[in-house]
Amino acid sequence: MKRIYCRYAAIVLAAVMMILAVVPAYAADSTKQKLVLGTSADFAPYEFHKTIDGKDQIVGFDIEIAKEIAKDLDRELVIEDIGFDALLPALQSGRVDMVISGMTPTDERKRSIDFSDNYYQSRQVIVVKAENKSKFPTMDSLRGAKIGVQKGSIQEEIGMGIPDAQLTSLDKISDIILQLRTNRVEAAIMEDTVG
Ligand code: ARG
Repeated sequence: MKRIYCRYAAIVLAAVMMILAVVPAYAADSTKQKLVLGTSADFAPYEFHKTIDGKDQIVGFDIEIAKEIAKDLDRELVIEDIGFDALLPALQSGRVDMVISGMTPTDERKRSIDFSDNYYQSRQVIVVKAENKSKFPTMDSLRGAKIGVQKGSIQEEIGMGIPDAQLTSLDKISDIILQLRTNRVEAAIMEDTVG
């Protein structure tokens, strides 16, 4: 009797030890510290929505960079899709831990936030409907034109520098393209890769 009891005790003890060995591993995983990325996911190929296996997902080369950083820091990556002009306030208030969103390190932004080294060099382009190509051959020809730009972007600043331009500043690049398609703006300013 005593021997059977001892054997049970040994089995129970072994089971408890196994559970103890397994539980911390699970616990560590589920409590993995989060790394919250702020991005404006309207900017293919940097960051954009794509349906993969029937699920809406945010993908792009900025997202790949974020994944590598999270892996290096052993953190769980959480993506917050925020309007571009709300990214810096979100970073400053601590709502997000970092921003990767094709953001240009301007002197003004550098005054309030810390940038990494540059990882991509882009050029600015003007996007017009094919039928308007000959109407807008130069920057000068944009004088007084209706122009779409992203709110809070350097393209908005460029637009502000065009004499008499009537700017429409919107949250999403896709909305700007829609405005262009429906002739509510005549031109849009954006980065070459995105254009
Ligand atoms: N490079 C421009 C800027 O920093 C535009 C970036 C827009 N990014 C985006 N994810 N929509 O102002």
